[in-house]
Amino acid sequence: MSKIILGIESSCDETSAAIVENGRKVLSNIVSSQENIHKKYFGVVPELASREHIKNINIVIEKAFSAAGTNFNNISAISYTRGPGLAGSLLVGQVTAQTLAFLYDVPLVDVNHLEGHLYASFIENPELKPPFLSLIVSGGHTELVIVKDFGKYKFLGGTRDDAAGEAFDKVAKLLKLSYPGGPQIDKQSKKGNSEAIAFPRPYLWGSWDFSFSGLKTAVVNFVKNNRKINIADLCASFQQAVIDTLKCKTFKAAEEFKMKRIVVGGGVSANSSLRDQFLSEGKERGFDVYLPSVKYCTDNAAMIACAGYFKFIHYKNKGNDGIHRIDPGMKLKSWN
Ligand code: KG4
Ligand code: ZN
Repeated sequence: MSKIILGIESSCDETSAAIVENGRKVLSNIVSSQENIHKKYFGVVPELASREHIKNINIVIEKAFSAAGTNFNNISAISYTRGPGLAGSLLVGQVTAQTLAFLYDVPLVDVNHLEGHLYASFIENPELKPPFLSLIVSGGHTELVIVKDFGKYKFLGGTRDDAAGEAFDKVAKLLKLSYPGGPQIDKQSKKGNSEAIAFPRPYLWGSWDFSFSGLKTAVVNFVKNNRKINIADLCASFQQAVIDTLKCKTFKAAEEFKMKRIVVGGGVSANSSLRDQFLSEGKERGFDVYLPSVKYCTDNAAMIACAGYFKFIHYKNKGNDGIHRIDPGMKLKSWN
């Protein structure tokens, strides 16, 4: 029998609700972005973010039901993002999900936001299943994880300082481009020469960790020390340094751990050049590379409903009631 999940995502500055059938078929996915509110501060202001979530959460849930043409009577479970993320933002999603689950007497499933990014590729690739190597690149995370099975993870490495998306956002702020910085740098880079400036590639040999704060400092120093700057060349050179670093480590890990499939997810995987280069390198080197379409790269509730579905069926169609509280620093943990 088909299982329909309501997913709720509110970990950062997107309020989102989605209705997903059997973990892969998206019936609706409504995302309300707060970009315009946080733009003038060049970053997310936590207090403003939680207030916006409160304003929008019921609206996006109603819209998700109406776009999917369904209602609470047809829902098998509700899944929500428990962490990691901003405490105030997470709280709005968690309290909403828990209240609705209680009111309508449906099971509740918590989802790690990173798992959402991991599972986003399942939506458009019905044949995709573990094992695979996953690279999660977002505003808060840069992580390499082996997904051995649904809910069975081996963490290889993560960021030691700035995440890839954070580096994009900080460089964009330095150049007075708009927020979020990733899409702006992506756009500028198309007009620039990626070999114009030799920025460092922070490989951290001998570890699967990442570090982008040194690269960010190299960009800051370059801007300080040069009077005339070609913004497009600078963006393209910085972007390429990030992509080279991510590609090098990811393909090395895929080789070393004998993974044929590589799944990339998170906001930075929306980057057009990163997408082209991961796909072409995968083809050249004999790996199948999966990237969600752009709307499922950045934060959305469809991926939370998708991850929630696989957890729900693993728990034999039950929720994990009784342990629901937010976890802003939540680590990726196996549940299988
Ligand atoms: O996954 P996400 O929506 O939120 C977090 O979980 O953090 O990722 C947001 C990040 C931001 O840092 C944003 O600048 C970056 O993803 N991003 C991009 C692009 N689109 C979004 N980075 C590079 N190129 C893009 N096209
Ligand atoms: Zn995210």
